[in-house]
Amino acid sequence: MKILLLGANGQLGCELARHTGLLNTHHLIALTRTQLDISDLKQVQLAYETHQPDLVINAAAYTQVDLAEKEAALAHNINAIGAANLASTCQQLQIPLIHFSTDYIFNGEKQTPYTETDEASPLGVYGKTKWEGEQLVRQLCEKHIILRISWVFGQYGHNFVKTILRLAREKTESKVVFDQRGAPTPTTSIADAVFAMIQHITPSASFWGTYHFCGTPDVSWYEFTQKIIEIAQDLDTLMIQRVLPITTEEYPTPAKRPKQGLLSCKKITDTFGIQSADWISPLTTLIQHQCHEKIHT
Ligand SMILES: NC(=O)c1ccc[n+]([C@@H]2O[C@H](COP(=O)([O-])OP(=O)(O)OC[C@H]3O[C@@H](n4cnc5c(N)ncnc54)[C@H](OP(=O)(O)O)[C@@H]3O)[C@@H](O)[C@H]2O)c1
Repeated sequence: MKILLLGANGQLGCELARHTGLLNTHHLIALTRTQLDISDLKQVQLAYETHQPDLVINAAAYTQVDLAEKEAALAHNINAIGAANLASTCQQLQIPLIHFSTDYIFNGEKQTPYTETDEASPLGVYGKTKWEGEQLVRQLCEKHIILRISWVFGQYGHNFVKTILRLAREKTESKVVFDQRGAPTPTTSIADAVFAMIQHITPSASFWGTYHFCGTPDVSWYEFTQKIIEIAQDLDTLMIQRVLPITTEEYPTPAKRPKQGLLSCKKITDTFGIQSADWISPLTTLIQHQCHEKIHT
């Protein structure tokens, strides 16, 4: 298959662009934001015409959760209009679209993992625009997979793991919220899941729809931080002495975040045999890589 990947410079886009399975078995065309702005319909149509893809993967998004509160129009333009541009063009050509969404479309009040049929009720602008994007993809493109993921981390781009590593090297104390729970999800596992789903695509495929995928086990941001530091301590010289658990109220942010963003992976397992991914081993690999990079720079 000829696959067009958008947002190829992001943390997930970079991982997908380098996925060995995708590269070995398919023809992958990976475009960055400067090569294609998904919020511009004309650019989208021209790219589809030029590259003639059999499948489109959209890893492009506006992802700055707090800044989105101030830049609502821009976030809407990318996460909703951009997704719609890709979906309508895919529909015209009768090709499938794989699109990513987030646990931030939920309000976090549920006590158990969210399923694909649970009601969306986003708390902030980022979640709202991602939910709008989902709805437009569903309406405009019959052959779609919307993959909701959570707490993404990996080697490329910015993420929580890299921030904590930096703080642990620079500061003796750090405060981290303990009353928001989620499931860290490695970009490597997401890319593997996408690759596995793509292997099932045939002209008669009928599994189009929304799926959840996340890592295991679930943790609070505080517990996640402790794990990062525990692994890094054996590999690096850290300044950090103490991590203090604090409440969300003690750490106010412009955007409200769900207290619980666990996603049930039952549907993706039942449909594709894809299991929720352990994140501890990929976290160790990432930290080893980061420490190695530090030593050699
Ligand atoms: N990060 C998380 O924790 C998380 C959690 C749940 C779901 N997700 C979802 O997972 C997907 C990938 O996220 P990520 O973490 O890889 O985000 P990311 O690192 O912010 O990457 C997003 C990419 O999209 C590009 N982009 C932004 N606007 C664009 C436009 N108009 N046209 C084309 N490209 C554009 C960005 O380009 P620039 O680099 O030039 O800005 C960036 O390379 C998104 O759908 C996101 O909502 C992420």
